[in-house]
Amino acid sequence: MAEPVLRVSGLHRTFGTVRAVDDVAFTLDAGGSLGIVGESGSGKTTTARIVVGLDQADAGEVLVHGRARSGRARGRAERLARAREVQMVFQDPYLSLDPRTSVEAVLRETLRLHFPDTDHPTRIRELLDQVGLGTRAAEALPRQLSGGQRQRVAIARALAVRPAVLVLDEAVAALDVSVQAQVLNLLADIREQTGIGYLFITHDLGVVRCVTDRVVVMRHGRIVESGPTADVLDSPQHAYTRLLLESVPRPGWDPDRIAAARRAL
Ligand SMILES: Nc1ncnc2c1ncn2[C@@H]1O[C@H](COP(=O)(O)OP(=O)(O)OP(=O)(O)O)[C@@H](O)[C@H]1O
Ligand SMILES: [Mg+2]
Repeated sequence: MAEPVLRVSGLHRTFGTVRAVDDVAFTLDAGGSLGIVGESGSGKTTTARIVVGLDQADAGEVLVHGRARSGRARGRAERLARAREVQMVFQDPYLSLDPRTSVEAVLRETLRLHFPDTDHPTRIRELLDQVGLGTRAAEALPRQLSGGQRQRVAIARALAVRPAVLVLDEAVAALDVSVQAQVLNLLADIREQTGIGYLFITHDLGVVRCVTDRVVVMRHGRIVESGPTADVLDSPQHAYTRLLLESVPRPGWDPDRIAAARRAL
């Protein structure tokens, strides 16, 4: 068996009395796509932030290609090396893009930081092309772009460092449905072309079905169920997963029945 690109084990994180992440473990195969689903507050973002290195676990391990990245990075070189392993795309690119920095400058900044010796103009064109943005977008400021285009910039910036893992936390949640579909297609293409592994966090089970091959279901910081996406969604073993599936608004859904089922859990 090939070593998974990402291995998380025994992860714990508490905030006061809240066990935000409680003994979480999973693996992501190289080029695979793992979904994390669960209701609000179930610990998805906290898990993601620990994997990326934006937060420290109280206990547990995060390994990329078998190398530990737990604990605080020692020095700049290690921080940059870790950033090249795992990149994150957030829900709202507005918050992660500087309003005064053009698309080209955003990408140039990242490339200069990580690869001082590359030919940046060529690589910038390549990245814009990879995310389906024309070279005309290069000079645009974030506010001159649509939500979908801004998210493409955030994706391009993440790809710039050639990460092994891309963590996407509700990355399409703020987009209109048609734009959402375009960005999901783009992400699927990129995964196929690059072999980057995705950790795909979403509350939208339709999205999970589209873009992941495995899924873990979280509740109160714990994983209650995991497996191939089709198996988990088509024949959920856990009552909580069935409830999540029922909570997806669709024609004929009955909010009262869902509320009653929730109380019974
Ligand atoms: N920095 C923090 N300080 C205190 N509590 C926190 C902090 N971050 C998260 N929490 C708590 O940890 C729990 C898990 O939060 P988390 O953001 O990981 O959930 P989530 O699954 O991402 O939810 P959502 O779907 O709403 O994004 C929640 O109870 C939350 O209030
Ligand atoms: Mg979250």
